[in-house]
Amino acid sequence: MTVKVFAPAKINLTLHVTGQREDGYHLLDSLVAFVDVGDQITASPAAASTFEVTGPFAAGVPTDETNLALRAARLAEWPMEILLDKRLPPASGIGGGSADAAATLRAAARLGATPVSAERALTLGADLPVCLSTRPARMTGVGERLRPVSMPVLHLVLVNPRVEVATPAVFAGLERRDNTPMPEILPDWPDALAMIDWLSTQRNDLEGAAVGIAPEITAALAALAQAPGARMVRMSGSGATCFALFEDRYRADVAAAQLTARNPWWWVRSASTLPV
Ligand code: C5P
Repeated sequence: MTVKVFAPAKINLTLHVTGQREDGYHLLDSLVAFVDVGDQITASPAAASTFEVTGPFAAGVPTDETNLALRAARLAEWPMEILLDKRLPPASGIGGGSADAAATLRAAARLGATPVSAERALTLGADLPVCLSTRPARMTGVGERLRPVSMPVLHLVLVNPRVEVATPAVFAGLERRDNTPMPEILPDWPDALAMIDWLSTQRNDLEGAAVGIAPEITAALAALAQAPGARMVRMSGSGATCFALFEDRYRADVAAAQLTARNPWWWVRSASTLPV
């Protein structure tokens, strides 16, 4: 038996850094959604786990024991032959490695393994619990506390200026670690435009530190802001992928085509959030 599992990109629509734990991990308050752009895991049971990677970003994926998908198969205690189709740029702030590991855990469960709890999945990375659910959520703590959020479908363009950013370096470069959280009670958003207006009042507190490491992020944010129909721009996660939000998918597609034509080297995709 073989299963195919989609590993959607994770977008941090907001990311507030509100503190730091004694072990160095940061406390976050982040609104997370998943989109119809992602990697794909194909898995089948095997005597011992193997891992193979194809796709446009295969070269950036480690295939040794540090590989998160292999570690996920071990955590599930379910050896599998794993094939990863790597379509998301690695180390880019949209959860690629975590999404792949979470998809591997879902694949193992579909093949018969006892599902791994979000708590155990957290040992693979702070984004694992949210990536395991693939549902829009407000994520707090270091990533372990999730509250479901209902939101309208959002349409966006993702731009990665083709520079890898190491997450620990971005956190280490923060000037402040005690920023304000989002409001305790989030508003009800009747439609995408209302949500975009509200999102404009929030932040990604990692942007400044990430720009310090990868100045190309400034160019990506500026190009997105100038794209026709863009209503709000922000960086996702620790970068370097940035996004703009649009009123509808048509406008996002048009902007993505223009950004691709002007910046052929960049990774540009139009996307929509996955409905719950
Ligand atoms: O958990 P994950 O391996 O994805 O995190 C990568 C690095 O990002 C951590 O080693 C840590 O330096 C930083 N991090 C953090 N606080 C978080 C998540 C990640 O400081 N909540």
